[in-house]
Amino acid sequence: MREEILRKVAEEFGTPVYVYFEDVIRERARRVRETFEGLNLFPTFAVKANNNPNLIKILKEEGFGVDVVTKGELLASKIAGVPPESVVWNGNGKSREDMDFFLQEGVKIVNVDSFEEMEIWREKGARVEFFVRVNPEVDAKTHPHISTGLKRHKFGIPVEDVDRFLAEYRDLNIRGFHVHIGSQITQTSPFLQAYESVVRLSERYGFDEVNIGGGWGVNYKGEELDLEEYGKKVTSLLSGFKRIIVEIGRFIVAPAGFLVLRVLYVKRRREKNFVVVDGGMNVLIRPALYSAYHRIFVLGKRGTDMVADVVGPLCESGDVLALERELPSVEPGDLLVVENAGAYGYAMASNYNSSPRPPEVLVTPNGEARLIRRRESEVDLFKDVIV
Ligand SMILES: Cc1ncc(COP(=O)(O)O)c(C=O)c1O
Repeated sequence: MREEILRKVAEEFGTPVYVYFEDVIRERARRVRETFEGLNLFPTFAVKANNNPNLIKILKEEGFGVDVVTKGELLASKIAGVPPESVVWNGNGKSREDMDFFLQEGVKIVNVDSFEEMEIWREKGARVEFFVRVNPEVDAKTHPHISTGLKRHKFGIPVEDVDRFLAEYRDLNIRGFHVHIGSQITQTSPFLQAYESVVRLSERYGFDEVNIGGGWGVNYKGEELDLEEYGKKVTSLLSGFKRIIVEIGRFIVAPAGFLVLRVLYVKRRREKNFVVVDGGMNVLIRPALYSAYHRIFVLGKRGTDMVADVVGPLCESGDVLALERELPSVEPGDLLVVENAGAYGYAMASNYNSSPRPPEVLVTPNGEARLIRRRESEVDLFKDVIV
């Protein structure tokens, strides 16, 4: 059924194309809520994972707020109808101008990242709810680029400086701590270590609210977070809090999204085979950037008749989607589908080699496919150029 829809979408809207399934987004959103059953949860969707307002709107309907980092992400949320009270503002590099903008917009919850940032909030006399991001020195056991909870990472305040921080900013409305140790984490133990650290701090300072960030790992290659185990352990650990904020991105949208590409060439070489498709690191940079693994299948074909690298059409050898993959016998014109592409896919797409970005299509639970972002045109690429 999904395969049929993917083929139809590719035929109607062309390739490459991102396709999202609404039923999966809703189901994943509900699993987030169920995981914390019995606790007073304020779930937010991390817009960095996917900024399409149509997806944010679905999550709003599921009772989610948003975690945003930039004015752009705030605008995406606003287009989706998310009220400012449901916004959590994150980031280690908030500019003074952006602070004024977010205050004017009525945003009320801010995760503060440093002493230096808090000085500016104080100067501004900001009356928002602050959560202090602590860096708990916990190894998330994920890719180094998406790991954030060690002291050598740029985020947060080391645990040993928390005392000084709270003493210094006693006059500001600090509501609790925030912790986020990284993304694509597939084991419960790093989460527990980080949460235990903020629970201890919260008890010491008498805070009854906490923001535990995101980072839940999805099944790219067979390994995924055991949510049942996570849920049991975490709900018991956090049961003393009056409000728990979470910021989940990848877990909700990754499995809802598929990237469909058209095979242009099959280059059979003595040393290696290459399947050249019509999008590469410009449409999905994760394999090139993090050596990330995404499952790939060919529409309408099964079997393992060849081993090949799946590569894009751009001018670098790093332009890969998959290495040494067993595939059925692929031919030009075939449609190749990349799974788990809904998070950090379109959001990290670029115009490298002056390539317009692909369209996005949303499939409703009754199977209707709707264009939710047009394919960029070459003209769009130069709209801001001054000659
Ligand atoms: C502060 C913060 N919260 C939440 C997230 C969302 O993470 P994920 O998409 O892994 O759930 C991120 C992303 O890295 C983040 O930096």
